[in-house]
Amino acid sequence: MKTKRVALVTGGNKGIGLEIVKGLASQDVLVLLGARNLDDGMHAAEGLGENVYPIQLDVTNQTSINAAADRIRRDFGRLDILMNNAGISRARPNSSFQDAVSTNLLTAAPLADIRTVFETNVFGVIAVTQALLPLLRESPAGRIVLTASSGASMTLNSDPSNSHRKMFGNYSASKTAAHAVTLAFALALESTNIKVNAACPGFTSTALNNFNGTRSVEEGAREPVRLALIGADGPTGTFSDENGPVPW
Ligand SMILES: NC(=O)c1ccc[n+]([C@@H]2O[C@H](COP(=O)([O-])OP(=O)(O)OC[C@H]3O[C@@H](n4cnc5c(N)ncnc54)[C@H](OP(=O)(O)O)[C@@H]3O)[C@@H](O)[C@H]2O)c1
Repeated sequence: MKTKRVALVTGGNKGIGLEIVKGLASQDVLVLLGARNLDDGMHAAEGLGENVYPIQLDVTNQTSINAAADRIRRDFGRLDILMNNAGISRARPNSSFQDAVSTNLLTAAPLADIRTVFETNVFGVIAVTQALLPLLRESPAGRIVLTASSGASMTLNSDPSNSHRKMFGNYSASKTAAHAVTLAFALALESTNIKVNAACPGFTSTALNNFNGTRSVEEGAREPVRLALIGADGPTGTFSDENGPVPW
């Protein structure tokens, strides 16, 4: 068994996930860089040093999830941190931005597209967390963090003065569901050593939003990494960004 803490970052091959990988590895955590395409993962891990190992993991594929969980137990013997970071904003990655915006609206989105987004952003979180809970329960200080979205806050989007709320559609609804799932895991694990929290990176420039975000990935990764590394006195069942608590 490794003596260093071991973390798994889903969707670790690019964007905020890759920056989370770097942030955790710099704190001497051994980081498994999850990538649904292993070649992309190996490419992303190049030059990141001996603390980073690529691992194949498609969060929508139970066989892939089970194989990753088996490999982590066999080759690393522990898991201390699970970063539920993998996510998609639209079902058809090559669609035009206009198409993506209109199929984001629940009034217009084909049900199959809605299911695709929920499959990754919601059921992917549940499936990966369930598969890795046995290892996390063995950790002296298990941590689970969701890369969450303040844009999916029901409280903030209920406010008519919120100018962004027109964008509350399929993607946001899926992230709201992911928030709820994260809180449900936190409550179910309250009596254990595992702390479960949701961290919003802010509007970060990545492929998810066609690089329209206003924050860098370095900025976006800060709050997720902070929550991944909290001590025994840290919170559980919270939602926050770099400025403090965010309403669910
Ligand atoms: N960017 C923002 O402003 C923002 C704001 C709030 C929350 N977030 C959240 O931050 C997280 C990361 O997004 P990002 O902005 O960094 O986007 P990104 O650059 O597009 O990265 C998304 C990552 O998720 C991976 N992924 C997608 N589907 C997957 C699957 N089925 N299995 C495994 N990995 C999968 C992607 O892999 P591929 O390379 O194979 O596609 C990629 O590594 C998401 O959960 C998103 O909802 C982002």
